[in-house]
Amino acid sequence: MTEFKFSKRVPADGTDAVGAILKAAADPQIISFAGGLPAPELFPVKEMQAAVDLAFEEHGQEAMQYGAAKGVTALREQILEHVKQKENVTGELENVLVTTGSEQVLDLVGKAFVNPGDTVLVEQPTYLCALDVFKSYGADFVSVEMDDDGMKMDALEAALKANPSTKLIYTVPNFQNPTGRTMPADRRQKLAELAAKYDVLVLEDNPYGEIRFAGQHVPAVKSFDKDGHVLYMSTFSKTLAPGFRLGWLVADAKVVDKLTVLKQSADLHTDNLAQYAVVEFLAHNDLDAHVKEISALYGKRKELMVEGIKEYFPAGVKYTDPEGGMFLWVEVPGVDDTVELFKQCLEHNVAFVPGDPFFAGKPQPGAFRLNYSNAEEDKIKAGMKQLGEALQEAVK
Ligand SMILES: Cc1ncc(COP(=O)(O)O)c(C=O)c1O
Repeated sequence: MTEFKFSKRVPADGTDAVGAILKAAADPQIISFAGGLPAPELFPVKEMQAAVDLAFEEHGQEAMQYGAAKGVTALREQILEHVKQKENVTGELENVLVTTGSEQVLDLVGKAFVNPGDTVLVEQPTYLCALDVFKSYGADFVSVEMDDDGMKMDALEAALKANPSTKLIYTVPNFQNPTGRTMPADRRQKLAELAAKYDVLVLEDNPYGEIRFAGQHVPAVKSFDKDGHVLYMSTFSKTLAPGFRLGWLVADAKVVDKLTVLKQSADLHTDNLAQYAVVEFLAHNDLDAHVKEISALYGKRKELMVEGIKEYFPAGVKYTDPEGGMFLWVEVPGVDDTVELFKQCLEHNVAFVPGDPFFAGKPQPGAFRLNYSNAEEDKIKAGMKQLGEALQEAVK
């Protein structure tokens, strides 16, 4: 048998804990709140089919030819208009890069900025795939404490002072994955100021901001950025469909240029047909109305989940009650081993993602993430009852 000499970037065997969890949760008997998928019944399949037809009719040859690494110009223009309207983030074409999912922005930013041993400051907890990406480039993580309003700015400044080799602050300020927490405007302004003061970059990851079902919109960190320290990324994955793999970065032109070179070596460019299809979709459909529909459904599902927590969970359990997005976060006191708790819940035919992989450092025992976007109402009702019973038994 060949002993393959994988690079240091490749995770060791047996470290894909989340893969194992999702596999266990995929059993059809199990009601799973573990995944992170949008509700497929709201995908605009017919409208997108028409948009794909139009893309072929109007741009058939360009769609099938190699294209520009920065993306299709018409889509970049639509993205600029979109971020201006939604987030008051302004720029020119040179500030926009279309990427293969916003996941690719994480990878390109890691590749462009993180040398082995550089510090990346992350929320505690944070999006686990961002941890995987930055780890593959040799990042040293420092976790910044959160409260109900997201990353704490005094903790962030202390971390910046203590870690002069910090390159990057990574944040998901809206309806964070995994906690569902949202950072208020004053903290965002402070975050932009700290980035400038300590000359570090902020990577603002905003896949969920538009999926708001309660409360008021909060301006993007990028809207407070005066000198290019904030890199803003978002995606069509949650507002339209993840299968097209379309995300984007809005940043200083110098950053966009460097990331474009790196993107060329990764995949030359993002799928042209997907880009032209979305160009046509946006030209002929009301994305805002569609997003309202998604938000209304997720709001209803979140409400049911919270009702289930109140009715069935043991006393003393803490949970977040997000105003948007797809996830909420639960903390069960008195639990030492969250993976063991996960296994006990599987026996009750219900699943979540244990909190452990979302922590760069020591995990918080008893914490886990629940997804409500991808579970139908009757499943949420039944699943929360089963989960409550499992937790009652576990904390006895
Ligand atoms: C916080 C966060 N960032 C980035 C992504 C990547 O999304 P995509 O590559 O589909 O744009 C996700 C997906 O779930 C996410 O939760």
